[in-house]
Amino acid sequence: MALVERNLALDPGRADWYSNQGIILQSGGELDRAIDAAMIKDSGLEPSKRFDVLDAGCGTGLCGLSLAPYARRLSGVDLSSGMLARAKEKQVYDALTQAELTEFVSHNREAFDLIVSADALVYFGDLDGVVAAAAAALRPNGLLVFTLEHAAGPVDAAYRLEFHGRYSHGRAYVEQLLVRGGLRPAIVQADLRLEAGRPVAGLVVRATKHL
Ligand SMILES: C[S@@+](CC[C@H](N)C(=O)[O-])C[C@H]1O[C@@H](n2cnc3c(N)ncnc32)[C@H](O)[C@@H]1O
Repeated sequence: MALVERNLALDPGRADWYSNQGIILQSGGELDRAIDAAMIKDSGLEPSKRFDVLDAGCGTGLCGLSLAPYARRLSGVDLSSGMLARAKEKQVYDALTQAELTEFVSHNREAFDLIVSADALVYFGDLDGVVAAAAAALRPNGLLVFTLEHAAGPVDAAYRLEFHGRYSHGRAYVEQLLVRGGLRPAIVQADLRLEAGRPVAGLVVRATKHL
């Protein structure tokens, strides 16, 4: 809770958003999933089990439980068979596929109403290919929700590889590429988690495909 209060001092708007969503910053990496879930809720999408949902880079399936209430069919894709085995244990996915996620969405044109990618696109530098493929895989009015680490700083970088081995991305780059892909973006800057005791600055992105 202390960290939320620190954010409040830095940026009251952001802290309001956190507390409205009932989110408390914590270490251990759960926060980006909570924020993704909040972004979906904010979009007005009803948890009516009516939608075809893809968890892209699903890992061990930590997002599965919060996505299941929206899903008529919940699919997960990941490169790692070990991760997929653990996701299967959660018993919330209708289908789990071992594949590269850009390739997977490229083969599923207009197949999904909601695509979520939590903490997975941080392993991509250039996002043009994956965003274009995800846009094509969404149905009209579909939603794409994902988290990125934020390349904040004096130079407005498109993206850069950080010392920890993940990429961070610039907000303007992400916004422009979503618009180019025929999506309407809403981006929230948020601390994703604590790492070595320090908050990791992130971008939480929701983009809606035009009708
Ligand atoms: C940090 S984990 C996050 C997992 C999950 N989304 C979550 O929120 O817990 C990142 C996952 O993305 C997967 N991943 C990374 N690059 C990928 C790619 N190009 N295609 C498919 N999966 C990928 C990794 O195997 C890993 O399971």
